[in-house]
Amino acid sequence: MLTDRVRYTPLRDKITDPATAARHIQDGTNLFISGFTAGYPKLIPQELVRRAESGEQFKINLFAGASTGDMVDGALARAELIAWRRPYMSDKFMRGQINQGKILFKDDHLSQLSAKVRAGEWGRCDVAVVEAAAITEQGHLIPTMSVGNTPTYVQEADKIIIEISASSPNLEGIHDIYIPEDPPYRMPIPIYRTADRIGKPFIKMDPNRVVAILFSTEKDHCPIFTPPDATSSRIAEHILDFVQHQIKKGRMPSALPWQAGVGDVANAVLSGFIKDDNFQAIDIYSEVLQDSVLDLIDLGKVRAASGSAMTLSEKARERFYNEIFRYRDKIVLRPVEISNSPEVIRRLGVIAINTAIEVDIYGQVNSTHVMGTQLMNGIGGSGDFLRNGALSFIVTPSTAKGGLISAIVPMVSHVDHSEHSVDVVVTEHGLVDTRPLTPRQVAEQVIKKCAHPDFRDQLWDYYQRAVRERGGHEPHIIEKAFFMHQCFLENGDMRLK
Ligand code: COA
Repeated sequence: MLTDRVRYTPLRDKITDPATAARHIQDGTNLFISGFTAGYPKLIPQELVRRAESGEQFKINLFAGASTGDMVDGALARAELIAWRRPYMSDKFMRGQINQGKILFKDDHLSQLSAKVRAGEWGRCDVAVVEAAAITEQGHLIPTMSVGNTPTYVQEADKIIIEISASSPNLEGIHDIYIPEDPPYRMPIPIYRTADRIGKPFIKMDPNRVVAILFSTEKDHCPIFTPPDATSSRIAEHILDFVQHQIKKGRMPSALPWQAGVGDVANAVLSGFIKDDNFQAIDIYSEVLQDSVLDLIDLGKVRAASGSAMTLSEKARERFYNEIFRYRDKIVLRPVEISNSPEVIRRLGVIAINTAIEVDIYGQVNSTHVMGTQLMNGIGGSGDFLRNGALSFIVTPSTAKGGLISAIVPMVSHVDHSEHSVDVVVTEHGLVDTRPLTPRQVAEQVIKKCAHPDFRDQLWDYYQRAVRERGGHEPHIIEKAFFMHQCFLENGDMRLK
């Protein structure tokens, strides 16, 4: 019985239907939702779309943990219901509307969001809509597959709507909820090991602010991971070989935790551990935990895995739900301000691996804007980890769009991370450890080792001309620095004819 999931019995009076619950959301409402790739509400977005389709004119400002699913970002974008959206998203319909200027969008370092909401930077917290597995006897919330910013949204919201998820088992014991004090009186966040639990297994909630409770049978729809292809496997091999070499040389300890960003390359790196016997007793201190983490736990290779969300394929999710007793001791899900906390990332010495859209010859990184203008997803947690990691890798396939675009360019068309946040650049062709190199040495090696052979000559010619004609610490011919982007915009191909 789903009613049993509402263990704080006075709240059972609030059980209602989506249409009644959604009346609390009107034109101009600031709507704060749970969800961080998974664990987003499903019924309220559907009801808002239904209202729009029946002719009601209204728009909301939507704030989430990070990306959600098509049922939220896609559906609300198609119904043209969103005025503002923050932070990171990865939905293609929403992306289109953001790039057309129809949805106002601003991205933020994910570690900083909750504190900004508590400081009131995002305006009034009108309504929070959160997915939960259960409500405890004391009236607190057990989240589902993500934590994200939900603890702060629940704390700050005037009204709270809860969607109890029938598709999720009781996940009690997986979460560790801790909200740090706000500056200037913040105490150190007392995480000294990946597995440390410092908070409560539930999200503290004032039951008096709950205006509606719904029961949902809808499931998360997470991206389908393709098995690692030759390119992502090669990138993973470069990284694992390099780290192994560093450990053997005594340049880093063997027990540093790993973070791997979103997407197939990140999954390939973690899958690489499966075949590589050099890596045992791995700690993962990351943002999103993907299928490969479960595989590694099954092989007995994981000591602890900490994240803010679990993005699992349907099959892996079934496995996780059915055998949760095997995973509960290994996995901890935290608020994103803790999973991505610069303080904790630095203290633990995280090995950070994040994916770029393009990287320039000196190591500046564009993670967010194609050809410098079109938003892809957002910066997400990449800045939190790259800037603060003990060893920060930026990875990318050397080309995009079937080889027409080089991911190594003379100058990035948009900057998310500077050369000072990047230690190692990796493509399937090779790897450059920039740490002991001058910018000129970095440029020479990145062109030779990381660029795709189709683009090496033109990058090298540019760099040589820049050295000859302009010189300086980081030679550039400013008026020519985007010649490859220009070439693509004019001919649909970055290769010079
Ligand atoms: N120029 C144009 N398009 C490019 C490109 C480039 N240099 N590099 C990649 N793309 C396109 C791909 O063609 C693909 O387009 P498609 O969806 O139309 O096929 C899309 O970008 C995604 O690239 P893909 O190769 O599939 O990699 P991915 O899924 O790993 O995504 C990022 C790469 C950079 C977009 C993604 O990692 C991201 O959003 N990163 C920023 C946030 C982040 O790092 N979060 C993790 C922190 S924990």
